[in-house]
Amino acid sequence: MTNVTPPLRVVVIGTRGQAARVAVPTIALSERADLVGVIGSEQRRTREFADELGVTSYPSISSLAQDGVDAVWLTAPNHLHATMASELLESGVNVLLEKPMTTTLDDATSLREVVARTEASATLRVAYQHRFRPAHQLLRHQLRSGELGESGMLRVHRYWKFPYFAGDDPSGPAPWRSSSTTSGGWAINDIGSHLVDLVLWMTQPQPLTVVSAVFGMQFPGVDNDSSALLTLGVGDRGLAVIECSNALSSPGSLVEYYSGTAWARLTNSFHPVAVSTTSLDDMSVTTTSDDSYLRMFDDFVAACHGEPSEGATADEAWESVRLIQEARATGRYLAGPA
Ligand SMILES: NC(=O)c1ccc[n+]([C@@H]2O[C@H](COP(=O)([O-])OP(=O)(O)OC[C@H]3O[C@@H](n4cnc5c(N)ncnc54)[C@H](OP(=O)(O)O)[C@@H]3O)[C@@H](O)[C@H]2O)c1
Repeated sequence: MTNVTPPLRVVVIGTRGQAARVAVPTIALSERADLVGVIGSEQRRTREFADELGVTSYPSISSLAQDGVDAVWLTAPNHLHATMASELLESGVNVLLEKPMTTTLDDATSLREVVARTEASATLRVAYQHRFRPAHQLLRHQLRSGELGESGMLRVHRYWKFPYFAGDDPSGPAPWRSSSTTSGGWAINDIGSHLVDLVLWMTQPQPLTVVSAVFGMQFPGVDNDSSALLTLGVGDRGLAVIECSNALSSPGSLVEYYSGTAWARLTNSFHPVAVSTTSLDDMSVTTTSDDSYLRMFDDFVAACHGEPSEGATADEAWESVRLIQEARATGRYLAGPA
């Protein structure tokens, strides 16, 4: 007798942006899930989107559990994550929550408590898809095996100028992103939270501490960070430097590690084609990964079925929120252009 689990019945929260661009097409690619509905902020638009996709337009989160929905990919703005995810988990619905987990440490702590209380009936993962890129997985393996030496410096640099996508308004981000309250920090959450997650995931189980933080506000008319430079302590002697910006130009991303005995450098590893070079051999390795979202989503489905999972847990995402919000509270803010 074959043991085939039926496809997970998934609803996407959101009808534009990450919902339309990523969540809906990724679920369509998965062999382990079916998209059964959507929920947006406004009924008419939600119905139009649902009709376009041939799925159900749900009026509310409370209607999902009654209809046997198994899981939600939650792509609402950052400040809505905590309450929406808590309500879903409390009603037994699994949640793939977009990053960052929350905009405040208090919210992250409350949500983590809900996750612990409901873990027998529902699973949460936070959408850090860059964990699923082979170049990052290889570097993590090399770091954790000790091949690259101990107590070195890990540097993650990623600049991505706004507007990020063709449909984005070039004059500035949506109001929820401009506001430091509803975003919880703009560049540091849009881009930097991925970088914090990678540092955390690559250096586990060493404790991370915020050593210093500087935020730039270079995006005209936006009173919120558009760049961030964070220095983190890793364990007793290691260091991590995180650089992100959505206002400054850069030729591409870099992930680098330097110890007293070895080094590694990944070029463009946030993109489909990455080049990894280390002092361990004289070869550069090119890896391709245009399916990091699908791999992350299928990992979430696996977690929902109690199978092994590499995705970011509530405890790990809580730690990212702690570091980001401590950096924001203690960091120095540099004024932007007049
Ligand atoms: N993992 C990644 O790399 C990645 C990339 C991009 C974004 N994200 C995350 O995704 C989230 C959304 O970002 P975005 O770029 O999609 O923002 P966006 O373009 O401003 O879209 C906001 C989304 O939230 C939905 N929404 C707003 N209020 C809602 C409500 N009350 N109920 C249900 N849906 C509501 C909107 O749906 P309506 O159209 O119905 O208002 C829309 O789909 C953020 O947390 C962001 O950090 C993650």
